[in-house]
Amino acid sequence: MAKKSIKPTTMLCPLPAVMASCGSMEEPNIITIEWTGIICSDPPRTYISIAKKRHSHDIVEKSGEFVINLTNRDLAFATDYCGCVSGAKVDKFKEAKLTPVPADIVGCPMIEEAPVNLECRVFKVERLGSHDMYMADIVAVHVNEELMDENGRIGLEKAGLIVYSHGHYYGLQSRPLGRFGWSVMKPKTKKRLSKEAAAKRAAGRRTR
Ligand SMILES: Cc1cc2nc3c(=O)[nH]c(=O)nc-3n(C[C@H](O)[C@H](O)[C@H](O)COP(=O)(O)O)c2cc1C
Repeated sequence: MAKKSIKPTTMLCPLPAVMASCGSMEEPNIITIEWTGIICSDPPRTYISIAKKRHSHDIVEKSGEFVINLTNRDLAFATDYCGCVSGAKVDKFKEAKLTPVPADIVGCPMIEEAPVNLECRVFKVERLGSHDMYMADIVAVHVNEELMDENGRIGLEKAGLIVYSHGHYYGLQSRPLGRFGWSVMKPKTKKRLSKEAAAKRAAGRRTR
């Protein structure tokens, strides 16, 4: 397939579009962030990269704390809004009709409406150029109870999560294309799992 070279740019898609909350319960702020990811599993660590000119940059720089709030279809509009206006001018919680709730460990609020909240405490800052990368320990995680089954299994597929790709927001619409390990799964395991899934679907039909 023929390819055309373009100038080096940040073309890594799709990315999550999360709302990072920061500040205090009295003076909270939200910044929409796509430059985020997981960088270590043990201990659980993440990062957000914030442009130096953002209002949130000063807040996170001083406090060393933020909360990553995952976003879903219901939050898509608010996610865009919080990425277009500055907390230096407006109260984004109020304008986007979002509810600040106290976190367990960090001093900044979490967004109640988000399906998952990751409380984060900065352990290192990398000055990269336009953006500073705030690497942080994930010190607490909160998951909407409705996403959990009776065994505590988290069904994130029910959360309606969204992603951001080259200027547009997308919902995760399709059913999963596969599960972890399906490319190397033994036929026996495949058969057992599809039997289990069919039983689950049938049980669901009976309770409806
Ligand atoms: C989808 C989306 C993703 C964004 N990702 C980032 C990002 O990763 N880092 C960043 O500094 N700004 C990012 N922005 C821009 C900020 O969210 C935006 O400038 C915001 O208004 C800053 O708010 P503040 O001034 O209250 O901090 C993004 C905006 C959108 C809409």
